[in-house]
Amino acid sequence: MLPPTATRWPGDEGKHVQQSANERDMTGLQADRPHPARIYDYWLGGKDNFPPDRVAAEHAISVSADIPAAARENRAFLQRAVRMCAQQGIRQFIDIGAGLPSPGNVHEAAQSVAPDSRVVYVDNDPIVLTHGRALLADNRSTTVLTGDVRELDELLDRPELRALVDLSQPVAVLLVAVLHFVTDDEAREAVEKVRSRVAPGSYLLLSNSTHEGNPERAAAAAKTWDKTASGIRLRDRAHVETFFEGWELLEPGVTFVPLWRPEGPTDQSTRWMYAGVGRKA
Ligand SMILES: C[S@@+](CC[C@H](N)C(=O)[O-])C[C@H]1O[C@@H](n2cnc3c(N)ncnc32)[C@H](O)[C@@H]1O
Repeated sequence: MLPPTATRWPGDEGKHVQQSANERDMTGLQADRPHPARIYDYWLGGKDNFPPDRVAAEHAISVSADIPAAARENRAFLQRAVRMCAQQGIRQFIDIGAGLPSPGNVHEAAQSVAPDSRVVYVDNDPIVLTHGRALLADNRSTTVLTGDVRELDELLDRPELRALVDLSQPVAVLLVAVLHFVTDDEAREAVEKVRSRVAPGSYLLLSNSTHEGNPERAAAAAKTWDKTASGIRLRDRAHVETFFEGWELLEPGVTFVPLWRPEGPTDQSTRWMYAGVGRKA
């Protein structure tokens, strides 16, 4: 059994929080160590996180109070880019490293433009499968799979994915806020594999954490991920641009997430992540 913790839930006003029975690790969810999906969920105001996730997430906030805003702005980038793809005629989306469901999911953004859009969500954290399947049980145009960005060939050949996605037609592939959880070689292999497998006219949407916008706080913020299985790789703009080699990089290129085609004035302008969108010619 895990010990009680002093972590705060939003609204708990500093009370010590005991772990409830359903928070203990009886499901293979590894609730005793922080996981990226659940840290991110905490920053987005979700409730699908455990004490170690909240400790890690609060560490980041103690380093830089704008980190939850950066997570929200990353979600907003994802939604803008997905709507843009749908406006360009894309009707099939593969969201790899999808994270826990939160308002403005990919199918909601895509279907707000094109109701016939189909979405395959993929994540290597089983909690995403559990929550995603519950949310999407009645939705025939979406599915949720457990899979890894480091095993793209196997993933793209899965019958469950191919039931919704025709790879001979253009598709949008999302690698949003996920490549920083794999090594440089694995990340490069992933984007190259996507490019080799998708049809011309397809899109690659990605974002990656960086140290360049906050050089003095980046090392301390990166410690947020120390106890996760993957750690994190902060990358500079030039490195993120290499992910688009062989793709036509759309305007405005690789930029901080709030600056990627903003749709109106924003009250936040974080500098923790780079984003870009490429199109396969
Ligand atoms: C920070 S969340 C991003 C969620 C969503 N893409 C977004 O940007 O809003 C990163 C997600 O990537 C998942 N992830 C981490 N490593 C992965 C891997 N090797 N393969 C697939 N998913 C992975 C985590 O479980 C987590 O849900």
